[in-house]
Amino acid sequence: MSTTPAVSARQAWRQLMRAGARVSGGPTLPTRQQPQHQLRQCQAAFARQASSLAASTSRRATARFSSSSSSSSSSVLRQPLARRTYSSGPKPPPRTSGNQQIKFWPFLIVIAMGSGGYMLLVSRRKDMPPNADSKAGSDATPAFSPDDVTVLFVLGGPGAGKGTQCARLVRDYGFTHLSAGDLLRAEQERPGSQYGQLIKDCIRNGEIVPMEVTIALLENAMRATLDKTADKKARFLIDGFPRKMDQALKFEEVVCPAKLVLFYDCPEAVMEGRLLERGKTSGRADDNAESIRKRFRTFVETSMPVVRHYEAEGRVVKVDATPPPDHVYSDTREKLRKALGDKF
Ligand code: C5P
Ligand code: MG
Repeated sequence: MSTTPAVSARQAWRQLMRAGARVSGGPTLPTRQQPQHQLRQCQAAFARQASSLAASTSRRATARFSSSSSSSSSSVLRQPLARRTYSSGPKPPPRTSGNQQIKFWPFLIVIAMGSGGYMLLVSRRKDMPPNADSKAGSDATPAFSPDDVTVLFVLGGPGAGKGTQCARLVRDYGFTHLSAGDLLRAEQERPGSQYGQLIKDCIRNGEIVPMEVTIALLENAMRATLDKTADKKARFLIDGFPRKMDQALKFEEVVCPAKLVLFYDCPEAVMEGRLLERGKTSGRADDNAESIRKRFRTFVETSMPVVRHYEAEGRVVKVDATPPPDHVYSDTREKLRKALGDKF
C-alpha cells in the first residue's frame, strides 16, 4: 500500500481547479484521519471525475498554458489531465513561477481594479456636500440673490412683540414687513383657496401650516414687492418665520438665504398677559387661553430648535422683549447697528 495515489488525487484536484474546471458536487477531499477504504473510494471517485472532465478542460488548459516558456512543461500540460494527474507515470511538473503568474494575474488585476475604484469613490465623496436632508439633497438655486434681497427673520414666542418692533423698523429703515401669520390669515380668507380650511385648523390649534403653503405665500409677496421697485432690490423683515426647521432650510434653499435672525426673547407669563389683552379686541381665533397654551408648546418644541440652529451658526441677534416697546426698540436698533453697521 502506498499514499502516492492519494497525493495524485489531490494534485489532480488542484490541477483541475487551476485549469478552471468547475466541479459541482464533486467528491470531498479525503483527510488523513479517514479510514483507508474511504480514502480508496475517494481516490477512485476523483479519478472518474477527473477523466470525465479532462476532455472538456484539456483544450482550455492547453490554450492557457501554451504561453509557458518551458517546452517540457508545456508538452506535459498538453497531455490529457487525467493521464497527467492520476497515472502512476511521470510526476507532474513542479510549479513554476510562470504557472503561478497564469493562475493569479487575472485575480490580481480584478482586485487592483476594485480597490482603485473604491479609493476613487471614497476620495470623491469627501468633496460632496453633506447629504441631503440638511439641504434637502437638492442643488436648487435660490429665487433671489442676497446681493439684491436682504432677508432678516424675526422670531419670538407668540406675544413677544415681533409685529410691534417690525412696524418701527419699517418706519425708520425702509424695510418691507412680511408677517407669515398675516399672509396665512389672508390666504385663509381668500375665496376659492384650496388651503383655507387647512390653515384655519392649524391656526386654531397652534400648529404649523405645511411649509410649502407658507413659503409659496412669502415668495409671491417678495416678488410682488420687487416688481414694484426700479432696481429690483429690497430688504425684508420676515416675521414669525421660520417656525420649524424644514421651513428654515427650504426657504434658504429655494427663496433666499437670510442675513440674520432677530430673536425676541420673552417669558411665557409676560407673553400670555399680552395675548389675553390683545384677544379682547383682535378677533383672532387663536388669542384665547386654550390656543395660547398650544401655541406656547409648539413654540418650545418646534420653533426654539430653529433659533438654536441659527445661534449655533452665529446668525442670531437676541433682544430681551420683556420691557415696554420703546425700550425694546432702542435695544433692537443698537444691536442691529452692531451686527449690520450704522446704516443697516
Ligand atoms: O405669527 P402668528 O402668531 O401670527 O401666527 C399665527 C399662526 O399661524 C401660528 O400659530 C401658526 O398656526 C401659523 N403659522 C405657521 N407658520 C408660520 C407662521 C405662522 O404655521 N411660519
Ligand atoms: Mg404677529
